[in-house]
Amino acid sequence: MTAEISVENLTQTEAAQEIARLAPLVAQANEDYHQSDTPRISDAVYDALKRRLAAIETRFPNLKQEDSPTEKVGATPSDGFGKIQHVVRMLSLGNAFSDEDVTEFDQSVRKFLGMGKDPLNFTAEPKIDGLSLSLRYENGTLMQAATRGDGSTGENVTENALTIADIPHQLTDAPDILEVRGEVYMSHADFEALNARQTEAGAKTFANPRNAAAGSLRQLDARITKSRPLRFFAYAWGALSAPLASTQTGAIERLETLGFQTNPLTRTCTSPSAMIAHYRKIEAQRATLGYDIDGVVYKVDDLALQARLGFRSTTPRWAIAHKFPAELAWTTLEAIDIQVGRTGALSPVARLKPVTVGGVVVSNATLHNEDYIEGRGNKGEAIRGGKDIRVGDWVQVYRAGDVIPKVADVDLSKRAKDSAPYIFPTVCPKCGSTAVRDEGDAVRRCTGGLICPAQAVEKLKHFVSRAAFDIEGLGAKQIEAFYEDDQLPVKEPADIFTLHARDKDNFTKLANRDGWGDTSVAKLWQAIDEKRKIPLARLIFGLGIRHIGEVTAQDLARHYGGWDAFSENITKARPAALAHRAADIAEERERIEAARDTRRVRLADARKSAIAAAKVPPDAARAWAFLIDADGIGATVALSVSDALANPDERAAIDRLIAALEEIQAPEARDTSSPVAGKTVVFTGTLEKMTRAEAKARAEMLGAKVSGSVSAKTDLLVAGPGAGSKAKKAADLGIETIDEDGWLALTSNA
Ligand code: IVH
Repeated sequence: MTAEISVENLTQTEAAQEIARLAPLVAQANEDYHQSDTPRISDAVYDALKRRLAAIETRFPNLKQEDSPTEKVGATPSDGFGKIQHVVRMLSLGNAFSDEDVTEFDQSVRKFLGMGKDPLNFTAEPKIDGLSLSLRYENGTLMQAATRGDGSTGENVTENALTIADIPHQLTDAPDILEVRGEVYMSHADFEALNARQTEAGAKTFANPRNAAAGSLRQLDARITKSRPLRFFAYAWGALSAPLASTQTGAIERLETLGFQTNPLTRTCTSPSAMIAHYRKIEAQRATLGYDIDGVVYKVDDLALQARLGFRSTTPRWAIAHKFPAELAWTTLEAIDIQVGRTGALSPVARLKPVTVGGVVVSNATLHNEDYIEGRGNKGEAIRGGKDIRVGDWVQVYRAGDVIPKVADVDLSKRAKDSAPYIFPTVCPKCGSTAVRDEGDAVRRCTGGLICPAQAVEKLKHFVSRAAFDIEGLGAKQIEAFYEDDQLPVKEPADIFTLHARDKDNFTKLANRDGWGDTSVAKLWQAIDEKRKIPLARLIFGLGIRHIGEVTAQDLARHYGGWDAFSENITKARPAALAHRAADIAEERERIEAARDTRRVRLADARKSAIAAAKVPPDAARAWAFLIDADGIGATVALSVSDALANPDERAAIDRLIAALEEIQAPEARDTSSPVAGKTVVFTGTLEKMTRAEAKARAEMLGAKVSGSVSAKTDLLVAGPGAGSKAKKAADLGIETIDEDGWLALTSNA
């Protein structure tokens, strides 16, 4: 390369030539980096080229090309973030609220590992109130930055992360693959200044630093992110090609050496009392730290122990967040509104005179249910000393972290003389159907089903939500608008998939509406079409059936493997489901009657005769048994799914949806590479190298099912010393039996 003439010395002609040389280079580098994901020049070279181009343009503004790459942050401005699949899931943390919870955490770790009173170290560090970010470095270069998203898939915010000063673009002496995880946050001072600037510009202000940080990171235009002073603390990692250290403390030190900011209040503690002492110290400094924290995170220090402890479905066993106590404030309860949820639940919401609670303005709070308003807890016990809550009351609002605020207390001395107890509605305020409360249920529910507009809208919102169909461009706000739309109504999920066809005769119908343009409409059609192929678990979850959460939906999907098997089997099981419900009722009746005339209760008999009377056909009984046999599925869930598929209106809507889909994808099989995948394993006798809990967790992680008793279904018995009747039964049944070492050998490389 010939020596570059410095920008100040360039003539007009030379400048024009330089622009003609540099602009395509920068544009190409942008495209390589952002669109093809294959950067061909280093960040440093890129920065130098772009800086020089910008400097020349500043000196010779007349020469600046209209579409100069200095004006663009990415290659082409995108309308949404790309998705990034996390190689290692980004999890959340379990919570501790008291000192006892912390001691219990230490105990549970020891118990799981079977380590008695041996020394056990933990780290303790502030829990930063921001949003988590995963930074992927390959051979020392920052290649990708992703938000947590749903834990499995996050948003690609690479460009934006590159604008954060605390985030190094380049690392030296790092593992070839290194995913650094931590929290993006905004300091109090920067937050105040940002809100002042926003106010001045007539733009929207942020409720708290966390929202400001999230809003700033998730900007489609990275120039905006760049103008917002974000910071980053590293505290964890994801995929790694080589370990960072053998302890959490060592790993954090290594991240610091690599150039990351780590929290200066991180300590290694040798006991729960030391952890609690550090918690108190951090709590005392909380107000002067200059950034928001909402608790202290404890982590097992030894990384080999962390690996043995592993994870529950969404949280690690080796860490916990000790939250700071909730914030409180007093204000007036102006009204009580009733919201109707997806499953018809009537939820009372307190409308409050706005009040600041821990830095956040709160104007709504939950009142849970009618018992809560009347001053009774879940078991009918008096709460708040039995005080009820009335409109007009002076109430205490309680806010813990990101939990929905609640009305915690009432000041009776300030109650108006003419105040009247709140009367909870017995008809649905949205559709007028009766709202009933089942025996033992704290919640009153609207019986309107899909005729209730509130339930229908909530069901639709759930359908498009992130863990369900996740349709980009179709969120809660759009669903509400479409539900009310005369020209293009969406009243049930299937209607989403016919929207485009219905809009076709007149393409401008939707594109002309407020908030919609040709591009966003075209994108919506595309986003909808993409979801005509959907994983079975997302479909089952998306139906919004009561008691079916994400995990249960996955269990059901794995159990049935396909939609047809799922719907046919559950339909077939209907007579058995009804018999089961009749048996529940018979059992309850027996309990009541026995209590009345003090005779011996015969619950099992009552059940048995109810089931016998129902004369369940054998294929229905088999189908029901198969349903109940699914992992994680109990009678409550089974009945709920059965009810949903047996309800004629609901079933018809589901069938219309299925007809609109192109492919329902079978669930990925659990890890089948391990030698115990799909097998039923029983542990018996004394295990010496691991606890029962650890053995069970590891077996389940490897795709095995762990059972407590030996039967013909058992594939493998792991027998330690002292094994008795189970080992004998296994031998009789010809079941393979191995000892603990055999088990470790079998599973150690899996
Ligand atoms: S460790 C496996 N350490 O809290 C989980 N998380 O409530 C690893 N957070 O998603 C997380 N400060 O966004 C960890 N010092 C800290 C943290 C921290 C804040 C956030 C993080 C996480 C959430 C869980």
